[in-house]
Amino acid sequence: MSGDLTFNKIFGAGLATALVIIAVPQIAGAIYHQEAPEKMGYFVDAPEEAAAGAEAPELAPDWGTVLPTADLAAGEAAFARCQACHTINQGGANGIGPNLYGVLGGPVLHSAGFAYSDAMTAHKAEAPTWGYDEMDQFLTAPARYVPGTKMSFAGLRDTPTRVNLIAYLRSQGSSLAIPAPDPTRQPGAAAPADGAAPAEGEAPAAGANATVGAPIEGVAGQPTTETAPTAPPAATSTPPGA
Ligand code: HEC
Repeated sequence: MSGDLTFNKIFGAGLATALVIIAVPQIAGAIYHQEAPEKMGYFVDAPEEAAAGAEAPELAPDWGTVLPTADLAAGEAAFARCQACHTINQGGANGIGPNLYGVLGGPVLHSAGFAYSDAMTAHKAEAPTWGYDEMDQFLTAPARYVPGTKMSFAGLRDTPTRVNLIAYLRSQGSSLAIPAPDPTRQPGAAAPADGAAPAEGEAPAAGANATVGAPIEGVAGQPTTETAPTAPPAATSTPPGA
């Protein structure tokens, strides 16, 4: 009988301990209520961009201007980074990524027989063709342009490198025409450095790149002022009761 009692005591003690273990977190949870954070986790964007301070959206390259002067050899050299996964010769095999012959100007999912991701398949519904801008945005940051793509490549943040690379892609089986120069894309674009004549007719970047030095004759004969007087900041009204 006393043996039974000992068992009961031990069993009872064990049960009590178990109850405490179960109950304490519940009680603690009730006392210390935690709000879920508004944003879960971290958002890590490419540090390169932050370093470059590229807060303002960059102007898309003016293909009509940059492609004719692009450096094909440099583009081919840049393609070395893609070769781990892609072939680009005509009829080349699909590897980790699809063969890229003629991809520029071609349809998204252009290589029959390659198992594309669902993300890329869905992307095709939004942007069916690899035009210059689409290719440019994809190569800048593949996972940002096509979230969920299985192309695990960080992207090329350097615009001249992308321009050369895209010119090289174009030279490999693409018949995508070079568009006419687009004046609205002129300002941020790489200005012809070595005295190259400006594109016919178009005054190079009036106003946007005010050259330091002699005043430039502005539109309508007005000398361009370096710093236009900025409007005074709007009077800040104190919100009532704040
Ligand atoms: C680590 C391997 C890898 C690297 C490196 C890589 N890619 Fe890809 N690429 C892929 C994969 C995988 C896909 C298919 C993506 C999907 O289905 O989501 C792809 C898809 C593409 C597509 C879309 C093709 C189509 O048919 O729609 C293009 C264009 C492309 N890559 C270009 C490039 C270029 C240019 C480079 C070099 C700057 C490059 N890739 C580097 C793996 C890679």
